[in-house]
Formats: sequence, C-alpha cells, structure tokens
Amino acid sequence: MSKNTSILQFSDVHFGTEDKNAIAAVREMAERLQPDISVICGDITQAGKKSEFEAARNWIRTLPGPKIITPGNHDTPMFGLLHRALDPFGRYNEAIEPLSEKHYADQNVSIVKMNTARGMQFKLDWSLGVVDIDELHGHVKQLHGSKPRVLKFLACHHPFVYPKVSPLQRETENGATAIQILSDNNIDSVLSGHVHAPFFVDRMPGDTGVISIGSGTLSTRSRGADASFNHINISADDITVTPITWTGDAYIAGQQWRKNRTELEPSPISERS
Ligand SMILES: [Fe+2]
Repeated sequence: MSKNTSILQFSDVHFGTEDKNAIAAVREMAERLQPDISVICGDITQAGKKSEFEAARNWIRTLPGPKIITPGNHDTPMFGLLHRALDPFGRYNEAIEPLSEKHYADQNVSIVKMNTARGMQFKLDWSLGVVDIDELHGHVKQLHGSKPRVLKFLACHHPFVYPKVSPLQRETENGATAIQILSDNNIDSVLSGHVHAPFFVDRMPGDTGVISIGSGTLSTRSRGADASFNHINISADDITVTPITWTGDAYIAGQQWRKNRTELEPSPISERS
C-alpha cells in the first residue's frame, strides 16, 4: 500500500500582528500531523519589516520537514516607497526564500510555487494579485514532468478566482485566464490564501476541475473567521482537506472536505462541459 502524503497549508500569518498563542501551538500540532511538506502561501509579515521577517524565520524553522514558501502582498516594505519600488522582495528573499524548496514531489503529489504579489502596480490597490501568464506556462510544463497519476498543485498567495464564500471579493489580474490554462492542462489544484478564511472550491466559472484550496489566517487580522491552517491528506484513493481551527486555547478539526481521486483523472476535452 502506498504511503499517504500529509501537507500542512498556512497563509497570512502576518508576523507583527500574529496570533501569538495560535502560532506557539502549531508546533505540537505539526508533530502530531507529521507533515511530509508544509506550504506557506504568503503574507508572512504584516509590514515587510526586518524584525517581522526574523520572527517569521525563527517560527518556520520550528516546523518539521521541507517547506514550499511564496510571498504575499504584505511581504514588501509597507513603509519606504523607494525601497518598495527598487527591491520589493529583497528582505523576503534574504530571510525566507532560503528556507523554501523550489519544487516538492513524492508518490502522490507534485507542488510548485509562483509569486502573485507585486511591490507596486499601475492601479490604486497594490494588494491585488497578478498572474504572469508566461511564468504560469513554465510551471505547467514543470508539473507535467511529474510521474503519471501524481496530483499537480500550484502554490501562490492570491486566489486566481475568489470563491463565493470569501469575505473579500476582488479580482486577480489574469486570474480567470490562468485558471482556464490550469484546467486545460489538467493541473489539479491552486493552494492560496489572502482572504483570511479557509475555502475549498472546485469548478470555478470557466474552469473544468481545478480545486482551489485556501488557508485561513494565523493572525489577529481575522475577517470574521477564527484563526486556522489546513491539513491536506492525499491517499491513493482520495484527497481530504481539514481546516484546523484555533479556539483561543486549543486547535480543533473543522468540517472536512473530501474528493475522490478518480474524479481528478484527466478526461478527454470533448467530454468536458
Ligand atoms: Fe493577508
């Protein structure tokens, strides 16, 4: 029998405004859940300060096993426009990037990462995500180098299409096109964060089967949802996602989402609706 893959998915920890008790209790849960890989989907800091990155680095180092880490819009310097313009991810690249794998693969899953955050943009809201389509094609190609029957995941900060359940409704630039490209290429899932609430949605508009899995926040910047992270378990038969929610003094398992792996098998284009 093949071994399951255990994934911990974190997002929006926002060191600087982190929930200190929830953060401290993660290590014990991580030891219990035995992750093969932890995926951290950005907004690691609140204001992109050096001290916040140092605290984040120390915490990430307490997590067992390898990590895939990608930045979010809060991981650029919030103060200091020149720094933000000239070297938006300099502090992130120095403190956090060395802790991250570029690619993770095992018998069940292959995971790559992409930065959807930008330091500055030609629009009023710089917090919005952007998908670079050329870069996306490169990640798709890389995922197609995986062994047959391995699930293919892309990790980033911004949801490509915002789920209806999200307390935050925005638009990711090129997001709808991007999810269609992933769908056409049988990529199975986008792991993201940003909305500060956990979600699991398949078949977004224009998409034929990419599962969007969002992790909540471990900061005090909740948007009505309790602090949480996700436990994703992939067996030979199915994938389950369980939000692990912080009650204020303990973690509890929330409602589990489940998908049979046979439903993720590629189907001929003509059979898709
Ligand atoms: Fe955030």
